[in-house]
Amino acid sequence: MNRTKLTILAMALGSLGAMASTHTAVLRADKPGAVVQPTMYGIFFEDINYGADGGLYAEMVKNRSFEFPQALLGWRAYGSVEVLDDGPFDRNPHYVRLLPASHGEKHTGIENEGYFGVTVKKDSVYRFSAWLRAPQGGSPRIRVELCDPASTGETQVYAAQTIDVTSGEWKKYTAELKPWQGFDKGVLRVYLAKPDKTPVDIEHVSLFPANTWKGRENGLRTDLAQALADLKPGVFRFPGGCIVEGTELPDRYQWKNTVGPVENRPTNLNRWLYTFPHRLFPDYYQSGGLGFFEYFQLSEDIGAEPLPVLNVGLVCQYQNNDLHAHVPADSLRQYIDDALDLIEFANGDTTTTWGALRAELGHPAPFNLKVMAIGNEQWGPEYVERLEPFIKELNAKHPEIKIIGSSGPDSEGDKFDYLWPEMRRLGADLVDEHFYRPESWFLSQGTRYDSYPRKGPKVFAGEYACHGKGKKWNHFHAALLEAAFMTGLERNADVVHMATYAPLFAHVEGWQWRPDMIWFDNSRSMRTSSYYVQQLYAHNPGERVLPLTLDGKPIAGLDGQDGLFASAVSDGSDIIVKVANTSDEARDFALDIKGVKAKQPFTTLTATRLTAPEGDAENSLDNPGLIAPVTTVADIDVTKEWSVSLPPMSFTVYRFSR
Ligand code: AHR
Repeated sequence: MNRTKLTILAMALGSLGAMASTHTAVLRADKPGAVVQPTMYGIFFEDINYGADGGLYAEMVKNRSFEFPQALLGWRAYGSVEVLDDGPFDRNPHYVRLLPASHGEKHTGIENEGYFGVTVKKDSVYRFSAWLRAPQGGSPRIRVELCDPASTGETQVYAAQTIDVTSGEWKKYTAELKPWQGFDKGVLRVYLAKPDKTPVDIEHVSLFPANTWKGRENGLRTDLAQALADLKPGVFRFPGGCIVEGTELPDRYQWKNTVGPVENRPTNLNRWLYTFPHRLFPDYYQSGGLGFFEYFQLSEDIGAEPLPVLNVGLVCQYQNNDLHAHVPADSLRQYIDDALDLIEFANGDTTTTWGALRAELGHPAPFNLKVMAIGNEQWGPEYVERLEPFIKELNAKHPEIKIIGSSGPDSEGDKFDYLWPEMRRLGADLVDEHFYRPESWFLSQGTRYDSYPRKGPKVFAGEYACHGKGKKWNHFHAALLEAAFMTGLERNADVVHMATYAPLFAHVEGWQWRPDMIWFDNSRSMRTSSYYVQQLYAHNPGERVLPLTLDGKPIAGLDGQDGLFASAVSDGSDIIVKVANTSDEARDFALDIKGVKAKQPFTTLTATRLTAPEGDAENSLDNPGLIAPVTTVADIDVTKEWSVSLPPMSFTVYRFSR
């Protein structure tokens, strides 16, 4: 950060008043209002767009347990290969038998294509593991290779290891591979080494970079996890989204299936495989490798409060509104138990069943769960009648846990209007609102929460993003309008307690939904303008809201405000003012700061600005730094009057400190 001496215009308000185009806002530094919750700005994670398997979860082998409906999907088999189903892991029973090559075949082996190719970096270490046995004894060997079939060079093989299979019993074997050349669209090859006289059985074939985030086994991709940590989110919502619901009940996300040894976490369909036929991904399944223990651990690592979402007994009502597809409202025992057991898993003493499992997995201390959502984007009486028994029982047994209910998929309208009063009646602590809306909506919603009742459930803006009209990508203008809209969240921090942009991740070759906050391919990642907007809020949340008005009104893009949106908070002795200029002209903006003692002027102004060459500009993997916040620090001497010219289409966070 450069500390430059800037000339800050400290103008007399009289002269400012004479400048017709100056917008002079009144900031009441002496009237701190609502407390800003530490959870205010967070993130929402879902395994959509290959966000988990193929993304954050660093496993490089697709269909590692041979449990996709076509057992060899993602694999290429040659020689004599059989698929059997009496393997060592009862919930993932399939495995592969590599038989000695016969009938003129030269080799028997399998190759995994990874997620959009196996990508490795030169001289990096990769950890291979597999469960193996020699079913007919002998002393067979397998050869493990990292290959680039597209290579036109001397060789296609850039790392190799041989493993002796020493037992007729299933055993985990490991090997390290260090390619001496990197490649992008390669494969992991495993084959029977010569002389291939006896077969080898192989199960749960895995390949991880040694360099996972925090060096954990079964870990996360470093760059993607770091991007989350760099946000400093207050809350981390997981695991979805629609995958919580499933299209059929057996496909719903079941957290209990995602804890314990990874080998026995059952593979599950991912409904984003087929949701959009024009973006069909027939190989999109959930390994469960990134499961609830990992989610809680990640929340802790990044300093965010965990916010799990559980199924309420309904399948996705968009995909399947057959009332018989849901769990009957009087048969929710298993679902409510899942919620109770999750609280025990997260917070329970290590002498309890689920608390003991948490300890066994390496985390005896509680995860300090405080809030959970029951149901994702549900609606109608069928939701209300199912949510009610959850709330009653959870409130009775765990009054310390806050419950989030849904307001449906729309930001307004019949479903929304029906659900809000119902959530109030049921005593939900927070209500989840979702809005994927166009620019015009974001521009018109600056005062959305100003008129919300101050009593009753709080708002959790659980999924939102500006979807530009005909521009469903991460262009700057959309991010700017998100920033503008968020001033209204901040101003209403007494009502809005949490907000999480969505979705979070997208693989450039595997997306179903956009825009998204962070894009990646197998080796690179890129933070969008929307990411930086979220980061600017999350790094500057403040503690108390300060009244900030223009002609007595909130600064929310109202008539006569020329596209300005602004809010203010105090942070210890600092004051933070966030201003979005959504217009395409520069705007003069002044602050009349009330309540600062003359003897205690603000002496430093840190201004962090996000702007772009044009509204349609966006970051890309090839040019990830095109749009990024720029910070300047200046010496000032301000107690009550300060002004600035705001560049067109810009979002700036001003921090006044002493
Ligand atoms: O964020 C993408 C999807 O949008 C979520 O899964 C769902 O809750 C919403 O419809």
